[in-house]
Amino acid sequence: MTNGYTHDVLVIGSGAAGLSLALHLPPDCRVALLTKGELNQGSTYYAQGGMAAVLHDRDTVDSHVEDTLAAGAGLCKREAVEFTVRNSRRCVEWLVSQGVDFDLREDQPGSGDREFHLTREGGHSHRRIIHAADRTGSAISEVLTERALAAPNIEIFTHRTAVDLVVKQGRCQGAYILNQQTGHVELFQSRAVVLATGGASKAYLYTSNPDGASGDGIAMAWRAGCRVANLEFNQFHPTCLYHPRAKSFLITEAIRGEGGRLLLPDGERFMTRFDDRGELASRDVVARAIDHEMKRLGADCVFLDISHQPRSFLESHFPTVMSRCLEFGIDISAEPIPVVPAAHYTCGGILVDTDSRTDLHGLYAVGEASCTGLHGANRMASNSLLECLVFAESAAKHITAGLSKLAAPHDAPPWDESQVTDSDEDVIISHNWDELRRFMWDYVGIVRTNKRLQRAQHRVQLLQAEIAEYYGNYKVSNDLLELRNLAMVAELMIRCAISRRESRGLHYTLDYPDLLPEAEDTVLRPDNAPRRVAA
Ligand code: FUM
Repeated sequence: MTNGYTHDVLVIGSGAAGLSLALHLPPDCRVALLTKGELNQGSTYYAQGGMAAVLHDRDTVDSHVEDTLAAGAGLCKREAVEFTVRNSRRCVEWLVSQGVDFDLREDQPGSGDREFHLTREGGHSHRRIIHAADRTGSAISEVLTERALAAPNIEIFTHRTAVDLVVKQGRCQGAYILNQQTGHVELFQSRAVVLATGGASKAYLYTSNPDGASGDGIAMAWRAGCRVANLEFNQFHPTCLYHPRAKSFLITEAIRGEGGRLLLPDGERFMTRFDDRGELASRDVVARAIDHEMKRLGADCVFLDISHQPRSFLESHFPTVMSRCLEFGIDISAEPIPVVPAAHYTCGGILVDTDSRTDLHGLYAVGEASCTGLHGANRMASNSLLECLVFAESAAKHITAGLSKLAAPHDAPPWDESQVTDSDEDVIISHNWDELRRFMWDYVGIVRTNKRLQRAQHRVQLLQAEIAEYYGNYKVSNDLLELRNLAMVAELMIRCAISRRESRGLHYTLDYPDLLPEAEDTVLRPDNAPRRVAA
């Protein structure tokens, strides 16, 4: 170990959840905020669609709550849903006060108060998605990052990968962190730790997510003794660009909200055969319908057509999609876009309460890493940025209220690397990455069976044994840590999927195609779980 740091609060992750939590802490609270790469590289930054909130005078909290509960297929926690939706307007106001510029309605010219432009997405019975064209995530991320950089109490550390949490006397007191630039593991000690590390969609071969989505926080919390839940519910976004050179590019659902139609290769519109809501059915329904049609026809992709909208409308509402598609020679104002489903969002995660507390004293989880009960078996579009903002604020309040009662962290031992050497066989890491992501896609994908899940379980256990051996013998690297975490979370996903003997929301299995009468969470408890539990 070369370095050690002590702060009041350690926030691991620099997306909407981590940044807003850090900004809500009081100015005398010393915060360390860690990010795996540069700032503005996580999932928040790439979010296109927007944030759901009750803003229109004909919309209501009840309606947003009911839509969320319906999408969640009986598994949402009503208390969490109501808590989130009730706070939605205030969170929008806070973002605006920080300087985020959301789009305004174009049909209200003049200098008076103009309303926000609200778009629609699947499952919502009202227009309620506030957005900044199709780059809402970057608009939020850039503003909050700027605020955090300017805050004297927030110290930002880039190129840091968390290895594991420090747990002493039943309390989380920091984390061991790899400094990617020096190759050394540093000790960060703090009174409270927040996991804002995002989801684990990188477990799948095809994903809309950036590279860092390797489930680090979920794996670390599990190893530290926290319960996780509902990890079988991995959301597949129905429409990612299908092109050999387009890595992970999302085609926002807002395109369907503005009238985009899904077509088969012969031009037939097919969604109405699957659901009366057509293209605006919830994501599980649309992704499954596309998967079904692609398999039926042996097609490589389907098509999304928005070319009936005027070019000027597309340029102002979807500049990101338009220009990225043009880079691949696709003019969305004149032709349909080739699309396929891809892994997009981890609905389950670390179990938390409405203060974002995990089972471990001093450890909080916010955003996609957490399982608050908002999403149930299927997250409704654009509810996740909202969840980040609402739960980050409640966590910050809880941390602030309790901070003075938490003793300063005890000295934890430095990271010991006296028994490990430099690896001379990095091919093991790259091979295992590929293998993991391939079998997760083939065996734990949109449509599952018992046999496929058992095959996946067998393979993930073999991989984990190999990774553990490698981890025990060689110095850690970012790739090794991400692989170790991803394999851990993949195993938890498979365990959750095997234990669900029904089809519900995003979990669809040919062996149990029906819904059971009782909706129950899948909760996994590690052997080292603390006896005192928060949620
Ligand atoms: O389609 C989208 O723009 C994605 C929105 C979301 O995942 O909430």
